[in-house]
Amino acid sequence: MAFNRKDSYYKQAKREGKRSRAIYKIEEIDQRFRILKRGQKILELGAAPGGWMEYIAQRVGTSGTVLGLDLLTISKLQSPPCRTLVADILAPDTGTRIDNLVSPPFDGVVSDLAPNLTGIKATDQANSIAMLETATRLGLERLRNGGFLICKVFQGSELKQFQLQMKNHFQKITLAKPKASRKTSSEIYLVATAYTGNTSLQ
Ligand SMILES: C[S@@+](CC[C@H](N)C(=O)[O-])C[C@H]1O[C@@H](n2cnc3c(N)ncnc32)[C@H](O)[C@@H]1O
Repeated sequence: MAFNRKDSYYKQAKREGKRSRAIYKIEEIDQRFRILKRGQKILELGAAPGGWMEYIAQRVGTSGTVLGLDLLTISKLQSPPCRTLVADILAPDTGTRIDNLVSPPFDGVVSDLAPNLTGIKATDQANSIAMLETATRLGLERLRNGGFLICKVFQGSELKQFQLQMKNHFQKITLAKPKASRKTSSEIYLVATAYTGNTSLQ
């Protein structure tokens, strides 16, 4: 279904000089769950062009850290707290590269990753699942006990299974569809808090 790319959130982002309309999604999630705090160390997977990073940076302040990773270069952000890494989450050395830049554990892992679509449904679904599994593994291996995960998921067969898996690792799991997320999009955000430290992903 066609959507209006230049909707009210797009226009608001332009007006307010934000990097992307995506910023309003993390803002709404944060306001609802009161999750981001001063001094926190946050890892963002799929962070370009840096809209979420700008918001998170302002919430964690200069005593905190936000490491944003993406295939694409993220143009300069306030440092501290921002650090960036050009990397493919599917590459085998990405975990080591993260650790060399910012030593774990992180207080929170956020992922707004969206795979590049091929248009072939079965391929897109398989890529999306592979990306979600890898992102979750990378994130949870670096998350402190009690930490949180905010993660974009696509509604469909993978969601239920993913929710069940995450229930083994967090005390509380909620699904959120922020107003800035297009109604026509199947994306939804899983907000998981109070990590129990069980990294044996099934
Ligand atoms: C929706 S955008 C993120 C928007 C960002 N949260 C913001 O607020 O500006 C999704 C990102 O996932 C990244 N991505 C897709 N596949 C990736 C991969 N294999 N490794 C790293 N990043 C990837 C894309 O390059 C894209 O920038």
